[in-house]
Amino acid sequence: MATVLAIETSCDETAVAIVKNREVLSSIIVSQIPVHRQYGGVVPEVASRQHLETINDRIAQALKDADIGIAEIDGIAATCAPGLVGALLVGLTAAKTLAILHNKPLVGVHHLEGHIYASYLSAPDLVPPFLCLLVSGGHTSLIYVKDCGKYETLGETRDDAAGEAFDKVARLLQLGYPGGPEIDKLALLGNPKVFPLPEGKISLPSGGYHPYDSSFSGLKTAVLRLVQKLAREGVEPLPVNDIAASFQDTVARSLTRRAISCALDYGLSTIAVGGGVAANSGLRQHLQTAAESHNLRVIFPSLKFCTDNAAMIACAAADHLDRGHTSSLTLGVRSRLAITDVMQLYI
Ligand code: KG4
Ligand code: ZN
Repeated sequence: MATVLAIETSCDETAVAIVKNREVLSSIIVSQIPVHRQYGGVVPEVASRQHLETINDRIAQALKDADIGIAEIDGIAATCAPGLVGALLVGLTAAKTLAILHNKPLVGVHHLEGHIYASYLSAPDLVPPFLCLLVSGGHTSLIYVKDCGKYETLGETRDDAAGEAFDKVARLLQLGYPGGPEIDKLALLGNPKVFPLPEGKISLPSGGYHPYDSSFSGLKTAVLRLVQKLAREGVEPLPVNDIAASFQDTVARSLTRRAISCALDYGLSTIAVGGGVAANSGLRQHLQTAAESHNLRVIFPSLKFCTDNAAMIACAAADHLDRGHTSSLTLGVRSRLAITDVMQLYI
């Protein structure tokens, strides 16, 4: 039952949290979205600088909110891969400094393992094996969770990640950044049946389709063609609510179909969802309904732990620490690292 202070700075959120096993004692998330919005996306240099300016105050605030002293912390954790190298470096360096100063073990955490662990925060009784549908801005994967640190990737996207597709379609519809929450809001006001859109499928050389891999670039192009066609026909204003609803419904149906068939094929009775797109109302609804009809349990993190946060990183680190997995003080950051290689982070 380790108590861990964790830092997450892999992208555009500066987050610090303290978690005791699976209980969140404090969680601070400072979003840089307003800063990056003016550029229409995350600017890596700006992200690193913002992390650097706020990290120390957030660490102090997390300890204050949890009402504990550093002496009561068993380990210091930080996301070290994958992500923006400069941004990761700020969090990992802060964690190493704390670890050295206070003589605590360091635990480097894989960002995606953190997203998997977000489900333990809302369902502390969850135990592997289970299937994780991981849908973030950079990843769309079906992961067989065998145990802490033991993962097998069963499905992936062949092109855009689900969150990336939301962001690109939002840009096309001239909505704000990040696009996912904007599309989600408008989709609630639209009719998903107005514009039938193609669900991307991956053909197999042997015939048929890959059952677990996804593709979203065709869907994105179909939305672009639709917008161009409506403009040519002089349709004004653009029916953005119906387009958003049709797009969201197509993504939700496609992810749901793959996750359910994968869970059934592998005999896994629980699907845990993680990553920013796990906050999507369409996906939550489709997957919940489909899971119930197949007698599967589905777990969604609470909305604040779907997008990037440090509580999920602390939760993963606490599990590793309890198993004696600690990282070397020479640990570096990595822009890429497969989830199947997480044990490389530990001595
Ligand atoms: O997990 P996350 O915070 O960062 C990464 O690790 O990538 O995910 C961010 C992604 C963005 O692409 C954002 O548009 C998407 O999650 N997102 C959503 C929603 N909230 C965030 N996508 C669809 N519906 C939402 N409600
Ligand atoms: Zn993330």
